[in-house]
Amino acid sequence: MGTPAQDTQHQHTTLQGDVVTASAPAKVILCGEHAVVYGRPAIAVPVHGIRAQATFTAGSEPGVRVHLPDIDQTWVWPPGPPDHPLVAILEHFAQQGGRPLQGTLQVRSTIPIAAGLGSSAAVAVAVVRVLARALNLSLTPAQVSAIAYKAETITHGTPSGVDNTVIAYEQPVWFVRGGPPEPFSIDRPFTLIIAHSGIQASTREVVAGVRARWQEDRSRYEAIFDAIADLVHRVRDALERGAIEAAGRLMTENHRQLQALGVSIPRLDAMVQAALAAGAWGAKLAGAGCGGNIVILTPKERVQPITVAVRRAGARDIWVTTVET
Ligand code: MEV
Repeated sequence: MGTPAQDTQHQHTTLQGDVVTASAPAKVILCGEHAVVYGRPAIAVPVHGIRAQATFTAGSEPGVRVHLPDIDQTWVWPPGPPDHPLVAILEHFAQQGGRPLQGTLQVRSTIPIAAGLGSSAAVAVAVVRVLARALNLSLTPAQVSAIAYKAETITHGTPSGVDNTVIAYEQPVWFVRGGPPEPFSIDRPFTLIIAHSGIQASTREVVAGVRARWQEDRSRYEAIFDAIADLVHRVRDALERGAIEAAGRLMTENHRQLQALGVSIPRLDAMVQAALAAGAWGAKLAGAGCGGNIVILTPKERVQPITVAVRRAGARDIWVTTVET
């Protein structure tokens, strides 16, 4: 028997004969992206409806045949491609010195890539979960998150760790870089619309752009990060009190700060404006920006008109999700 935390990880895996499957959700940041890289807090929530799924089928040949049909890639580990995030995870388990990994690993995902929804972290968490289960290891969410973080550093360079954390814990988190996530309670459930601009943007490049501008003018950027941190505290307070409308207004303020950081683009601004004009409580870009998604906090009865409005403003794919503690 595992602890409750360990059992949480097993809930996301299934075992049938020699075939193990595991999945992990997308995520969205309600407040605090970019500033979180510089030690400020962020609030992130899982998006359960879009997921990465990993399947491991035990085999008799040595090594692991990795099949990634979504990006048309197949390779064999060891050694696998150099500097590949999944190789880092396979190496991690190989170094544990237990039973050798032998079989086929397949990964599929419905999470759009380069869109601010944590697709790389979800793939990493799903793969950690499936390999742990295949090796009969019980891991806590903290352990899953730490292994996935190794893969994230290969994908993103200097990630804060917020993506792998919220995805491994599968619950709303208050996150500060380097520390464990703090659970906090949400007074009442709320509805989010996530709308994809259809524009891809590399998190690594957008984060590097912010860093370059921060290096040129530290005091200006530190002041923006402090202003974002203040909003994150106030969003938490609003969600804990059930003041969802107020949380929405603060998210819209967060969008303005993200504009000041230089990570918004006209399509995202137009989608945010359209959502607000159609009755949203708040809206902001989500994730690295320069493309990707916006997240909209909305009264349930406004979902339909807001969806129509953001589509007119350029949104391509749209997801609706409910967040509760
Ligand atoms: C990416 O989902 C969020 C960023 O803050 C980067 C990070 O936290 O590593 C932009």
